[in-house]
Amino acid sequence: MNIKRKYTIFSNLHFYLKECFNFDRIGFVFAMLLIPSRILKSLVTIFIPKLVIDSIQNFDGESVFLMRILLVTVVMAVASITELLAKNTMEHSMNSFVLVRLNRLWAEKASTMDYEVFTSEDGKQSAEKARIMLEGTTRWGIGTYVPRLLELSVSFIGFVVYAALLVCVHPLVLAALLVTYFISLMATLKAEKKKQLLKGDAARAERKMNYFAYNTRGLSIAKDIRIYSMRQWITQMTTLARLDLRRIDEKNQDYQVHVLIINSIIVLLRDGIVYFVLIYLTLEGRLTIGDFALYAAAINGLGEWLSLITSGIGAFREADNNVTDFRKFLDLPDEDNTTGKELTLTSAPEIELKNVAFSYNDDAPVLSDVSLKVNPGEKIAIVGTNGAGKTTLIKLICGLLKPKSGEILINGIPTGNITAKSFANNVSAVFQDSALLPVSIKKNIIMNDSDADEKSLARVISLVGLTDKIASLENGIETPLVKHISENGTEFSGGEHQKLLLARAIYKNSPILILDEPTAAMDPIAEQNVYMKYNELAKDKTSFFISHRLSSTRFCDRIILIDGGSIKEMGTHDELMKKGGLYHDMYTLQSKYYQEGGEAV
Ligand SMILES: Nc1ncnc2c1ncn2[C@@H]1O[C@H](COP(=O)(O)OP(=O)(O)OP(=O)(O)O)[C@@H](O)[C@H]1O
Ligand SMILES: [Mg+2]
Repeated sequence: MNIKRKYTIFSNLHFYLKECFNFDRIGFVFAMLLIPSRILKSLVTIFIPKLVIDSIQNFDGESVFLMRILLVTVVMAVASITELLAKNTMEHSMNSFVLVRLNRLWAEKASTMDYEVFTSEDGKQSAEKARIMLEGTTRWGIGTYVPRLLELSVSFIGFVVYAALLVCVHPLVLAALLVTYFISLMATLKAEKKKQLLKGDAARAERKMNYFAYNTRGLSIAKDIRIYSMRQWITQMTTLARLDLRRIDEKNQDYQVHVLIINSIIVLLRDGIVYFVLIYLTLEGRLTIGDFALYAAAINGLGEWLSLITSGIGAFREADNNVTDFRKFLDLPDEDNTTGKELTLTSAPEIELKNVAFSYNDDAPVLSDVSLKVNPGEKIAIVGTNGAGKTTLIKLICGLLKPKSGEILINGIPTGNITAKSFANNVSAVFQDSALLPVSIKKNIIMNDSDADEKSLARVISLVGLTDKIASLENGIETPLVKHISENGTEFSGGEHQKLLLARAIYKNSPILILDEPTAAMDPIAEQNVYMKYNELAKDKTSFFISHRLSSTRFCDRIILIDGGSIKEMGTHDELMKKGGLYHDMYTLQSKYYQEGGEAV
């Protein structure tokens, strides 16, 4: 309930307008001129017939008549030019606001958000909803907020001005107008509420569509599409996703048609009553013909303002809901850097896991009871079948995920008592799906290190075996990566990509080193090279090495085997071989395969 109250229209207004104002003050103030210019324009328009009729009825001479017409023309011209300028300024300013400011807020949030929340079902949905509504700039989505707010303000002020004018005619006119307004407003709001309920389904269907639209067109999947003849299957899935989206769209259309029908009936009723009163008063002689023309135009205008308010409220509510969704995304929990203290490790730490359990999205536990004490500087190898929970375990150790029960201690300090930033400062990692950025090779290795140490840079490049590759590039280490994005860029092979990721992790030189299958894409020589140098890479670090190549575990101090959510076997290679359990079976199977190929492991 509290969460709902947090995003009231007023708090959304405060958030959004403050952001807009701070982004472009002049543009913001100029856009506001849209309100007086529109009202003035419409007032002049309804006064013109009265002016002409009155001038003809009580003719004061040609020059007076011409002066009046000239004055009206000048006022109209000024109002029209101001309106045009204000509208252009508003559109330009709002486009930049969405493209620059809101996109930046989104990206910052995505990178500071608690990792577990970001990868959870709700987090992914919220991020996607917020991202989609940035795409429309001022055409749809969150960027329509200010334009719709201004439209609504114009209609509302216009309505008040016209109502003040009409109340002088007869209170019945205003009463009829207000009652009908209220009914059509209710109908619009009800339809809007129903549309809002469909938004979650729409976002899900949209995500599916986007996935098929974009993720199946990239270079990486082009191979699979051909080899596995996936085209027909993808077309089918895309059609299904599109049908889902169309079904939701049709429901939205239905709501819209209902509102349209109700509004049309109401307009008919309203006009019947008010024109009857007006004609009656004119026939009675209580209104001049000029007055009749003015009030008829005002009634018409008021009707227009009213329907603009009704549709404007619906449209504004939609934009307001977008702001709420965006703010909900911004308010998702960040990495916790406030509670707990900063931990700065000066040497390899001791890491202890006590009865650690973890599950994703309240699903069945992936890890149910993991206890392990790792000595300072120890090299741990983690093995296990696919989906056993190895990656999950290291994500827990490096603080990206938090245990659902049990605790993890670094040098005796529970990880719950240290800030998220402490992990960033003390952990180097290569994940299975780490990405490189479209910047230079050097930048990809040194990352945030502003004064790069050239000697250690050359050392890590040599350690991972990339020296020759980099020397062969015209711009050497300054060559940008990702060919189709960077000019003069280069494309690394899968194994070279992995070497670069490894170089980045080693360069960071943190006391905790985590490598999740860092050599899976490397050729045997490169892999052997990493194994041989592992002692040097992991020197003075507490390290974790995940690999399916079991020969890699030989250079680690201790091997742990994860199975069924906990550590099933633990010890050195020889101890585990002697034990004759799963490790023994996996190792024997793998080495048999190699030996059959003519080589021992
Ligand atoms: N973000 C996630 N949301 C939900 N479930 C997840 C998520 N990440 C992993 N899982 C599930 O948790 C289980 C363990 O995954 P994990 O990635 O830890 O396995 P792994 O041992 O590293 O496997 P592999 O050898 O294939 O890398 C799997 O069943 C997987 O489906
Ligand atoms: Mg894994």
